[in-house]
Amino acid sequence: QKMLEKRASRHLRQKAGPYKIPVVVHVIHNGEPEGTGTNISDSQILSQMSVLNKDFRRLNADAVNTPSVFTPVAGSMDIEFVLAKQDPEGLPSDGIVRVAGSKSGWTSSDNYELKSQSYWPSDRYLNLWVCDLVDNLVGYAQLPESTTLSGLEQSSNNALTDGVVIWYKSFGSSDDGPFSLDPNFNKGRTATHEVGHYFGLRHIWGDDSGDCNGTDYVNDTPNQANRTLGCPAHPQKSCNDITSMFQNFLDYTDDECMNLFTKGQVERMSTVIENSPRRQSLLTSPGLQAPVVVANDLGLRTVISPQPHACSTTITPQVEVRNYGNNTITSARIQISVNGSVVDVQDFNHSLLPLQLAELS
Ligand code: ARG
Ligand code: ZN
Ligand code: CA
Repeated sequence: QKMLEKRASRHLRQKAGPYKIPVVVHVIHNGEPEGTGTNISDSQILSQMSVLNKDFRRLNADAVNTPSVFTPVAGSMDIEFVLAKQDPEGLPSDGIVRVAGSKSGWTSSDNYELKSQSYWPSDRYLNLWVCDLVDNLVGYAQLPESTTLSGLEQSSNNALTDGVVIWYKSFGSSDDGPFSLDPNFNKGRTATHEVGHYFGLRHIWGDDSGDCNGTDYVNDTPNQANRTLGCPAHPQKSCNDITSMFQNFLDYTDDECMNLFTKGQVERMSTVIENSPRRQSLLTSPGLQAPVVVANDLGLRTVISPQPHACSTTITPQVEVRNYGNNTITSARIQISVNGSVVDVQDFNHSLLPLQLAELS
């Protein structure tokens, strides 16, 4: 229904610019120095961002390999993936977080533990976790939360696990540098595939393990019996001689043989972005903008004590303050009010460097 409404109103609406998606990359590594092993380099991360920005817009160099039978339905999405410019606290960021993980290898059943190593609110950031996946999985994604779109019934509503996980050996492209990548998954297409899922796409063969009655809920992708592995010669046929679109990013082909999304897939992803709550809110995320940092800016970061309720007649408030500004702070005043009237004033002298934290009682 949302897709029909969208089609009907297409001539009325002029979308201002591309969908901008703020991305945070959490590198969950094994303690290696930056740029080695699971602690992949910034340039490997930038390479992956560049692949996403090319693949979704059909600016990928290998778009010329799309067989001519499929070029009429090949789709380009007006979207831009941007590494987050501010973190959830409003501090400047390069959109990359590096954390030594509590495990050296991860399986899909470690989903929650993996994501709790580092997480930014999923209504404001596309969380991309990169780690050593050890169960023969190159990546997995969480489908968007319930919209009325068919094919998303099994998606999880858990905001804390929302995002995409990618194996560090299939992240980024060998075209951009000598990264240590798996030869079959060396063009950054794992993230393209998973972000496709994240925006609501289903596998092109309809997940029916070889039958011809499954669907991906997209009209312009040909019906296909099963997944395609490796890199076969075109054409491949199944389901009453229908030519398979194994070059689609939502098949299981090797990275170098994938080169397109269809117009129908782009329409489905756009519908999800405009309607699914945690996807839609990405478009106005503060993460897209660099924060304005001012000279003097001390902030109350957390109230350590009292906790939501305290029963004793006297309390000793304890707070954490942070210097969010550029200047070193040397003194400050905190006023405590109860029901609008000031009951205590505390002056303190502390030297706090920019970004530093302090606990005050
Ligand atoms: N197995 C993964 C999934 O179903 C992704 C496969 C990605 N394929 C690739 N050539 N990178 O989500
Ligand atoms: Zn998949
Ligand atoms: Ca099928």
